[in-house]
Amino acid sequence: MGEVRLDGKVAIVTGAGGGLGRSYALSLASMGAKVVVNDLGGAMDGSGSGSDMADKVVDVIKASGGEAVANYDGVETVEGGKNIVKTAIDAFGKVDILINNAGILRDKTFVNMDEQNWDMVVAVHMKGAYCVTYAAWPYMRENSYGRIVLTASAAGLFGNFGHANYGAAKASMVGFMNVLKLEGAKYNIKTNTIAPMATSRMTESYMPPEIHDKLKPEFVTPLVAYLCSEDCEETGGIYSVGGGHFARIALMECPGYTQAVDKDITVEDIKNNFEEINSLENMKYYASLSEENVDIMTKIME
Ligand code: NAI
Repeated sequence: MGEVRLDGKVAIVTGAGGGLGRSYALSLASMGAKVVVNDLGGAMDGSGSGSDMADKVVDVIKASGGEAVANYDGVETVEGGKNIVKTAIDAFGKVDILINNAGILRDKTFVNMDEQNWDMVVAVHMKGAYCVTYAAWPYMRENSYGRIVLTASAAGLFGNFGHANYGAAKASMVGFMNVLKLEGAKYNIKTNTIAPMATSRMTESYMPPEIHDKLKPEFVTPLVAYLCSEDCEETGGIYSVGGGHFARIALMECPGYTQAVDKDITVEDIKNNFEEINSLENMKYYASLSEENVDIMTKIME
């Protein structure tokens, strides 16, 4: 069981000016990767830009003997995604690792969730992951190597009051990953998703102060760094990570209830069998739509 190293690898970390992203960037650099530290330097709600957050992280990496370059583009435009990847290509010639981490928060109960709050959060998390990954993908394909980490949230995977925009955008990472894992398979591009828990400017007001020390970003980073390494062969995994806890989360399907279609299916058939339809027993994991469809077709044809 040797040391996990990233020597010779080029990594992009979006939103790496603070919080989790900063910790990822420092860790990847300490493991030998050359790092693009992206951050547009705005406020937690996505307003403003231009602070020197990315530069400060680059300075820390360089002071420790690592290699890093800053980028200040917003992730949510195709142009921004292209520039972020161009920064990696211009400085280091390739891109091996992409951590889609940039994020903002705009809490509102759904009754107050106006279009601007919806669009902005969806743009940074969902379109942002698309824009940067889309720009990096051809380089990863060409080199037959890629490690991509997407950032979801328990707020979307399980639900959280006031997070309709954020939860929807974060849960979408799973759908995005499920397709990338298939399309990247023959190019050795592995895509995984995390649902982190850590104290940062985004979360410190939600978390009781006595738990802050237990939830340092540094306790999330080792799993993310492993997912970014050549040692990691996993793709399509979702991981709950924070405070020293690491666990797989999975979308699964239960056997359910199948009724022959040689006669009409009534609403009462559903009512009478709802317990079986709704049961969470004997779940099964499917690695793709095709696998799931084969099982359903088999049941239908029996
Ligand atoms: P943070 O607010 O410290 O970090 C987010 C970073 O993204 C900031 O430095 C910000 O300047 C940057 N950013 C925002 N919009 C950007 C844009 N358009 N382009 C480039 N950079 C941009 O928050 P934290 O906690 O470190 O969050 C990191 C990621 O983890 C986010 O995606 C967040 O939604 C997610 N997350 C965090 C959790 C936690 O417990 N801290 C829980 C679940 C998810």
